[in-house]
Amino acid sequence: MSFTLPELPYSYDALAPYMSRETLEYHHDKHHLAYVNNGNNLLKGTEWEGQSLEEIVKGSFGKNAGLFNNAGQHFNHLHFWNWMKPNGGGAIPGELEKKIVEDLGSVDKMKEDFIQAGVTQFGSGWNWLAVKDGKIVVMKTANGESPLVHGATPILGCDVWEHSYYIDYRNRRPDYLKAFVENLVNWDYVAELYSKAV
Ligand SMILES: [Fe+2]
Repeated sequence: MSFTLPELPYSYDALAPYMSRETLEYHHDKHHLAYVNNGNNLLKGTEWEGQSLEEIVKGSFGKNAGLFNNAGQHFNHLHFWNWMKPNGGGAIPGELEKKIVEDLGSVDKMKEDFIQAGVTQFGSGWNWLAVKDGKIVVMKTANGESPLVHGATPILGCDVWEHSYYIDYRNRRPDYLKAFVENLVNWDYVAELYSKAV
């Protein structure tokens, strides 16, 4: 397969004021596009050509850094656009909420730990909710890595590369993470991924 840049699932203005049109134009049209183009070039002639994106990400990890970085970021961003929606945040679908309380203590504790993982990710990377060994866990990873290459299935991720927040929040990464959790997360999509992961 080759990688293609998807359309955003909402308009460029739809996430304002929490994520601006300018951020989405740079982040989607330039950064994500670069991962798609570089990934396609680096995939050519490798043993992973013709495989699924997830197989490429897992297979190239630790073996082909250039391909992995771009394929990993393509995978992460494909989901990232869907992990947000206008008027996001709010209620978590019942079954997922129950499992979050069971595994992470409470919804508030989950939000606190998720934000803290993003705040403490040194440099570029992502913070996550993932399913590992049947449990929901909070994780953080560097650069283009994700729970996929650490034995877990991602169900929610927040991009803490500066390109995701610097236009709107400058250096205030904690404020960006709080806005992501409270006002942007599409919990229906998280619940959908959770139901496929268990
Ligand atoms: Fe990004």
